Amino acid sequence: MLSIAVLIGSLRQGSYNLQLAHTMKERYINKLDLEIADIRSLPFFDQDIELNPPSAVQQFLRKVGAADGVLIVTPEYNWSVPGVLKNAIDWLSRGDKVLIGKPVMTAGVSPGMMGTIRAQLHLREILASPGIQARLLPPAGSEIYISSAALKFDETTHRLVDESTLRFIDRVVDKFIEHAR
Ligand SMILES: Cc1cc2nc3c(=O)[nH]c(=O)nc-3n(C[C@H](O)[C@H](O)[C@H](O)COP(=O)(O)O)c2cc1C
Repeated sequence: MLSIAVLIGSLRQGSYNLQLAHTMKERYINKLDLEIADIRSLPFFDQDIELNPPSAVQQFLRKVGAADGVLIVTPEYNWSVPGVLKNAIDWLSRGDKVLIGKPVMTAGVSPGMMGTIRAQLHLREILASPGIQARLLPPAGSEIYISSAALKFDETTHRLVDESTLRFIDRVVDKFIEHAR
């Protein structure tokens, strides 16, 4: 079974993006071993300490480096990726550069109509940069933009319950498994 490190671009307890990650962890439990890699405890990237980073950074790099692939689930902030996620990716782009060649898929949820399109487009550019060079799941037919979150997530269970969205994600996950093999 593929081990997948999950990066969540929101630190909010009630985050819809976190709820999507939990939904996927449970739904694909027989196909993927999804484990959230904590980005909350990472300090701001600082080139002065990159060669001898704090243990939170070392653990994070080890965890992502050891995974067979990465799932990034992120909201959109001001038409781009949240700073906390960019900071985590900047750490991953240095040292052993653990994202080079790593299979990556992305997804995002917004309460509004646009479903994080702009953020994920920016994210794909970032993931192609020289220090990162992730092996991104080709976007055609695999773009997970979840809009109108309040209508699609259950307020009590905090899980995605919209059937057509879930079936679409099923297909993308199967493509990702093929891509990551
Ligand atoms: C600083 C900030 C900027 C935001 N900018 C956008 C944006 O550009 N596009 C958008 O669709 N939503 C934007 N939002 C609304 C977020 O989509 C919303 O807060 C969402 O619930 C955050 O994701 P989460 O539920 O996973 O925490 C912004 C929210 C914040 C706090």
